[in-house]
Amino acid sequence: MTGREQWGSRFGFIMAAAGSAVGLGNIWRFPYTTGENGGGAFLLIYLAIILGFGLAVVIAEMLIGRAAQKNPVGAFRELGGKGWSAVGFMGVLTGFIITSFYVVVAGWCLAYIGFMASGKLATTDAATLQGTFEGFISASGAPLVYAAVFMALVVLVLSGGIGKGIERANKVLMPLLFVLLILLVLRAVTLPGAEAGLRFYLIPDWSQVNLGTFREAVAQAFFSISLGMGTMITYGSYLSLKENVPSSALTVVLLDSAVAILAGLMIIPAVFAAGLNPSAGPGLTFITLPAVFAAMPAGAFFGIVFFLLLSIAALTSAVSILEPMIAYFVDEHRINRRKVVFGVCAVCFALGVPASLSLGMMAGFKIFGLSWFDLMDTLANNFML
Ligand code: PHE
Repeated sequence: MTGREQWGSRFGFIMAAAGSAVGLGNIWRFPYTTGENGGGAFLLIYLAIILGFGLAVVIAEMLIGRAAQKNPVGAFRELGGKGWSAVGFMGVLTGFIITSFYVVVAGWCLAYIGFMASGKLATTDAATLQGTFEGFISASGAPLVYAAVFMALVVLVLSGGIGKGIERANKVLMPLLFVLLILLVLRAVTLPGAEAGLRFYLIPDWSQVNLGTFREAVAQAFFSISLGMGTMITYGSYLSLKENVPSSALTVVLLDSAVAILAGLMIIPAVFAAGLNPSAGPGLTFITLPAVFAAMPAGAFFGIVFFLLLSIAALTSAVSILEPMIAYFVDEHRINRRKVVFGVCAVCFALGVPASLSLGMMAGFKIFGLSWFDLMDTLANNFML
């Protein structure tokens, strides 16, 4: 192939970058983090960090990519000199680690579409739902099968290349995601008893805020707008030199925040309406929400829609976590894109296997006192990013 592929349109680029930003971070992590950190006050602090800080870094990453027209490793080498390529390399490496557990959680989302449809989750008893969830994620076979199916979808999108793969998928999936999200928000806020949740979510209670709140908000913000892994550098590298970066970046950041806010608006009032606790942590999505769906009219339908939404969001983000690595091997080692896609995805899946098994069969196997799943998570989020 001659020349580097580019986005087909500005809209396509914005959808792809927004597809990257909008992921499990917005719909799974944001609502429970907000629930654990006191609601409304956290929301305001989060937005201030995104707009005051995050936006500038998104613009910087996109500009680095656009200027160099290269993957993160090549871009840092070209703009900063040889030593700087280590920074890009770190990002690419972090991508491998993050994908390994991202794919496992994404597999759970796919599985839950089926569980919702089969009526397996049709109970409001939290203990039963917790049993179902823990039983499923600690199994050795099923979660890996779902992770493999998810990975196959990622391969499908990535092997299409930039315009026909990533851009095309995002142009369809992102608008669909918005429609599904609005549908679910309308359902949630009109449930009887939703007002208490709206109050918790929208009226800040500053007595809940401490230094830890800020740390959580910064971590959440950077993960949510896909920073630190070279994703925005790589997506920026498929822009032509005359593209206006700041206005696209602003749109992407606003879309990402809008989805996070709406995800909270969908989940928190529904949780209050069902008389449940919004600070249930990571289990909020997989344990508390099924109880909420079981209690609402046509809950199974809305539940299917919800987990579909979550899977779509995860897919467009997983693709973007892998693209910097793909671009690296294509640019620097001149390997055929399809081969790279298969190779990189196979390695990431292989890293996901211990991440998944560490929740069950291999639970006794610990490194620095952490399971493989938590080790990868801690290493990537608290250290490498
Ligand atoms: N922003 C994505 C999310 O919210 C995750 C992600 C991080 C994607 C870094 C790409 C790079 O889930």
